[in-house]
Amino acid sequence: MVIRRVNMEVPLLDLKAQYATIKDEVLAAVSEVLNSQQCIGGPRVADLEAKIAAISDCRFAVGASSGTDAILNCLMSLDIGAGDEVITTPFTFFATVGCIARTGAKPVFVDIDANTFNINPELIEPAVTEKTKAIIPVHLFGQMADMDPIMEIANKHGLAVIEDAAQSITSTYKGQKAGSIGKAGCFSFFPSKNLGGIGDGGMIVTNDEQLYERLLIMRNHGSKPKYLHKYIGGNFRLDPIQAVALSVKLPHLDDWSESRRRNAAYYDKKFSGTVVQTPYISPGGVSIFNQYVIRVPRRDEVIAHLRENKIGCEVYYPIPAHLQECFSYLGYKEGDFPESEKAAKEVLAIPVYPELTDKMKDSVADTILSFPG
Ligand SMILES: Cc1ncc(COP(=O)(O)O)c(C=O)c1O
Repeated sequence: MVIRRVNMEVPLLDLKAQYATIKDEVLAAVSEVLNSQQCIGGPRVADLEAKIAAISDCRFAVGASSGTDAILNCLMSLDIGAGDEVITTPFTFFATVGCIARTGAKPVFVDIDANTFNINPELIEPAVTEKTKAIIPVHLFGQMADMDPIMEIANKHGLAVIEDAAQSITSTYKGQKAGSIGKAGCFSFFPSKNLGGIGDGGMIVTNDEQLYERLLIMRNHGSKPKYLHKYIGGNFRLDPIQAVALSVKLPHLDDWSESRRRNAAYYDKKFSGTVVQTPYISPGGVSIFNQYVIRVPRRDEVIAHLRENKIGCEVYYPIPAHLQECFSYLGYKEGDFPESEKAAKEVLAIPVYPELTDKMKDSVADTILSFPG
C-alpha cells in the first residue's frame, strides 16, 4: 500500500500555542498578585481550592507545591510511615513510589492491566498483609483505574485509598470524578498536564473533614497555631501566582480535554487496521487523554524514525519502578511484573495536545505508518 505522506514538524507538546490564547489574562492576574505582594497563601489560593473541589465533586481541596507534595502530604497526614506497607503499581511516574518510600513505608507492587496500563485489581488482594495501610491506584495517561473492585478490597481490609490523579483531573469512572472515590485524590499542575501551571503545583481533594484539617496543618510544617508543632510536616504550599494562573486556565479545561479526546479519536481512526495498538478506554470511563499512548512493534526504531522526521514522542515510562536502582532494597527482580515490563518496552506517547491541527495529526500518524517495519 502506498501511503500519501503529510510531513511537517510536530512537537510532543506546544505550550506556547496555548499561552498565546490566554497571555493577557495570565499577565494581568500575575501582575495583580505582584502588586498585592501577598506571595504566600491567601484568598487566591483558597479561591482555586474551592473551584477544584467543586469540579472534582469533593467537599474540600488543599493546594500543594507539586503533585509529588500532594501525595506526600496525604501519606503523612494519614500517619503512614515506617513499618507500614502501601500497595501501588510499578508502571507509574517515579513520584508515586518515591513518596511512599520517603515516609519510611514499604512500596508493595502489583502488576498492571495490559489494556488500560492501570493497576490490575485482581492482583491487589493477594498483596495485602497485616502491615498494609493504603492503596495508591494511579489514573495513568488520563484514564481512571477500575475503582469499584479497588474500593471493595480497601473497605474489606480497612485500607485508605489515595488516588494518584496527577494525570487525570476531571476524568470520570462510572460518572464519578477522579479524586472523589477514595479517601483523597492528588492532582499535579505540572505544565504538561491538562491543567498546567506556570511552574510546579498540585492539589489534594477529599470528602473527609478530619483529613482536610490535618492536610492544612501538615502543609505548614505541622504547625497550628503558629510555632506550635504537634506534627512534623513540610512546606507543601501552593503559591498564589500559580493559583491565579491556574484560575485563568480552569474555564478552558473542559474544552482542552474535549479537543484531546477528538485528537485521540482521529488517531484511532487513522491507526485502525494497522499494527499500531491504540489506547483502550474502559466502558464507563471518560479519559482526558493527558497522553495518547500507543504500542508499536520495534518501538525504539519507530522512535528513531519519528525523531528523524521531527515528530515529538516520549516513552512513559521506560523503566518500571521495581527495576529502579534506588528500589533494589525491596528485592524485586526482572520478571516479577511482566505486564509492566512489557509495557515499558512497547509504549510510545505521541502528540495529542489540544492545538494540533488535522494536518499535524496526519503528519504524526503517516510518519509512524511509513516506518518500514
Ligand atoms: C502519575 C504521577 N504521579 C505524580 C506526579 C507528580 O507530580 P509533580 O510533577 O507535579 O510533582 C506526576 C507528575 O508528573 C505523575 O504523572
